[in-house]
Amino acid sequence: METAETTISQISKHKGEEVIIKGWIHNLRSSGSIHFLQIRDGSGFIQAVVEKSAVDTKVFKKAEKVTIETSVILTGIAKEDKRAPSGFELAVNNLEIIQIADEYPIGKKEHGPEFLFDNRHLWLRSQKQWAIQRIRNEIINAIYLHLNDEGFIKIDSPIFTPNAAEGTSTLFDVSYLPAWKEGEKEGPHVYLAQTGQLYIEAAIFAHGKVFDFGPTFRAEKSKTRRHLTEFWMMDAEMAWHDWRDNMKVQEKLTIAIIRRVLLKCKNELVLLERDLPSLEKILEGDFPVLTHEEAVKKLHSLGSDIKERDDLGADDETILTEQFDKPIFIEKYPKEVKAFYMKRDPKDDSRVLNNDMLAPGGYGEVIGGSERETDYDKLIERMKQEKLDPKEYEWYLDLRKYGSVPHSGFGIGLERYIRWICGLKHIRETIPFPRTLNRITP
Ligand code: 4AD
Ligand code: MG
Repeated sequence: METAETTISQISKHKGEEVIIKGWIHNLRSSGSIHFLQIRDGSGFIQAVVEKSAVDTKVFKKAEKVTIETSVILTGIAKEDKRAPSGFELAVNNLEIIQIADEYPIGKKEHGPEFLFDNRHLWLRSQKQWAIQRIRNEIINAIYLHLNDEGFIKIDSPIFTPNAAEGTSTLFDVSYLPAWKEGEKEGPHVYLAQTGQLYIEAAIFAHGKVFDFGPTFRAEKSKTRRHLTEFWMMDAEMAWHDWRDNMKVQEKLTIAIIRRVLLKCKNELVLLERDLPSLEKILEGDFPVLTHEEAVKKLHSLGSDIKERDDLGADDETILTEQFDKPIFIEKYPKEVKAFYMKRDPKDDSRVLNNDMLAPGGYGEVIGGSERETDYDKLIERMKQEKLDPKEYEWYLDLRKYGSVPHSGFGIGLERYIRWICGLKHIRETIPFPRTLNRITP
């Protein structure tokens, strides 16, 4: 029988058989007559044992030469080993070296974050970084699968946009070359999208329930543990949904995401030392809802000096969500701290029918959502208050003229979700190549 090529994650299907695995040396140690090679192949990690008495002298000599990150093709017997994380060990018969790696800069000693991010192109291979990206991938899968099941259509929104949607202070301005008019040096100025929301609002009139998913950009001026300048957002938008229905959609999606990550990435969560019962708790649903007013009162009792009509700051969100073991919704913020498109509360014109969803355990805001203003005049009034020119939003205002309906939507910050689900201190580890206030390389 020909030896089967397999991956570490599939090795249990080949118990006792000879297999071929292609991968890299993750770590190694030797006792003189046995080399213990930690192998990774992208799908997982396994120990490969090269025993002097069991292999050809040439093979043993090759095993002596390998270094960390050397690329190899191994042939060996898949031996069950209950103590191993993969449940298996590879008893090596043959070893082919593809490239002997230079001395690897990562892993010999403790490294600072700047060094690790300077070497991000290599650091991605480390076990925890590997686990984080696997979880990122499953969160993305969960979002697509769940929303498709719920009847949403994916609508791609543009990255270049002439409109500010989330305030003008975080806009990235791009000159759209070449010039459009004779005599001008460059074309019109556009911005990089802060959100796709306004565009997918247009699409609900064609499809009912829609979502987008893509990179978004904000020139965040402060250095924090939860802001990137380039991050991924999933905006969802639903016709015929009020702000309460909107929160239900967010809760259901959040549960679907956590359920899938627990199902598909338990090993990765364990590798990250994530506390699993605290994630399992979230599957119960029934996320508490507090009004902004109630949240402010609670914050005062926790020692915050937040003012009645202030937005919640990062510190406020931290101390508040440390009090909860499930995500919480905070609704009805003062209108002046939120975007122009949010619907005014008919019971209190100074507040909006919005919600932020804050993740428990100190993680804070992961979703921002609201019912949308459908009243043409109120929209114009809010635009003017926010110093936005209604002329530039004519296409958006049209949506209130041709078959306007109550509708709501929300945006998930993908990296905020990953930070929370993985239990990470800093958001920058959640994205393969982070862009922050002071980092654009590699
Ligand atoms: O709360 P935000 O600003 O809401 C919107 O953009 C709405 N248009 C979404 C919608 O209703 N369709 O942003 C949504 C989420 C936040 O809750 C947060 O998780 C994330 O995006 N976010 C950031 N993540 C990383 N870095 C930043 N600089 C972020 N800014 C927002
Ligand atoms: Mg927000």
